[in-house]
Amino acid sequence: MSYFKLNAKYLSDFIAPHEIEAAGVQAMLAADTLEKKCGLGNDFLGWTTLPADYDKSEFSRIKAAAEKVRKNSDILIVIGIGGSYLGARAVIDLLKSPFYNNLKKDTPDIYYVGNNINPTYLNEVLSICEGKDIAVNVISKSGTTTEPALAFRIFRKLIIDKYGKEGAKDRIFCTTDKAKGTLKQLADTEGYETFVVPDDVGGRYSVLTAVGLFPIAVAGCDIDALMAGAAEAMNDLKADYADNDCYKYAAIRNILYRKGKSVDLLVSYDPAFTMMAEWFKQLFGESEGKDNKGLYPSSATFSTDLHSLGQFIQDGSRIMFETVVDIKKPKCDLFLEDDAENLDGLNFLTNQNMSVVNRKAFEGTILAHTEGGVPNIVLELDDVSEKSVGYMIYFFEKACAVSGYMLGVNPFNQPGVESYKKNMFALLGKPGYEDQKAALEAKLG
Ligand code: PA5
Repeated sequence: MSYFKLNAKYLSDFIAPHEIEAAGVQAMLAADTLEKKCGLGNDFLGWTTLPADYDKSEFSRIKAAAEKVRKNSDILIVIGIGGSYLGARAVIDLLKSPFYNNLKKDTPDIYYVGNNINPTYLNEVLSICEGKDIAVNVISKSGTTTEPALAFRIFRKLIIDKYGKEGAKDRIFCTTDKAKGTLKQLADTEGYETFVVPDDVGGRYSVLTAVGLFPIAVAGCDIDALMAGAAEAMNDLKADYADNDCYKYAAIRNILYRKGKSVDLLVSYDPAFTMMAEWFKQLFGESEGKDNKGLYPSSATFSTDLHSLGQFIQDGSRIMFETVVDIKKPKCDLFLEDDAENLDGLNFLTNQNMSVVNRKAFEGTILAHTEGGVPNIVLELDDVSEKSVGYMIYFFEKACAVSGYMLGVNPFNQPGVESYKKNMFALLGKPGYEDQKAALEAKLG
């Protein structure tokens, strides 16, 4: 059963049915390349079978470790950046709440560090930890990324100072390569529990490995159901083009790109989806934005951003299309009662659930934007449950891979990410970068 469906109704003014049909040939070629593992980046396809092939004994260890953290800690610090951070945060925000830390609950608060190098941010999290029991999950596939490595140094010291070297073993969990890297060596030397980022799964495709699953489990989400949803997607989304919304979504993006659209704006009407959009942006941006090609993935939350970006979307440069994630059933609703006095004149909204008002905003906006020349692809998510979210994650991952192959790029590398790092290391005087340092400093003046 599909939990995430394409609704192409609002594309009719922009794409003719025969165009969608014609793009099927290329989409199936791209899907076949993925299936036969004969395309660029084919050593990073572990995610394609992950929902069935995951390491079951590690999965049990993840659940046991999550239970331990739930018992011994008030706060879990999740240290990671990019693909080693966004997926967990996206799922926890969506399934639990963006207010997760403020909710009454029997699971630890979760703070995310190591995703920037800002001292104020880190100091604030450190001060929140004062007087609390904490645990740390440091996540880095390479084990050498500067931002998380620096944050881990600080939080590891905090934990050792508070609980001693022995006590730290119950509170530090490292998710990294199975054998290599500084983090793996450190974890083995110190006796910290480790979880594995599989060799053949890149960071942005890793949410359904220990990278995402451990923090998600600590937050009290059902990771069995999450994987079950992804497994259903894995099976459903092997279908031929005519019955495959994932391939059609990839094809439609490609058609719109060729028609001159350069921005894909991912929209939802649920603020809890905001971090999922951040995950989507990394997934598509890092996978497709290369060789001077690719759609720029952007995002907005409506109706909030209709009061900021709305003007541009309706009336500005005609550069974008929208991918609207339409959550059919909100997690909960709010009945709007009549007010006898009606001083604010809002009784026209009452005697109904607030989700109805949100839906009218969706309908009104989609009509306005399409009339304004913005194609809208709608992806309908049944509800906000572990199964649906697992399904959606796999849908987007596969759509991204197929879309990348249609575009003619390697969807699994990220050569461009290295440029800033080289400059930063040289400017910081990292050993081995001495030659570049002087040249860069001269440019900065
Ligand atoms: O998708 C990617 O590859 C990146 O976003 C990485 O996940 C990110 O740079 C973090 O890398 P690492 O896990 O090696 O610390």
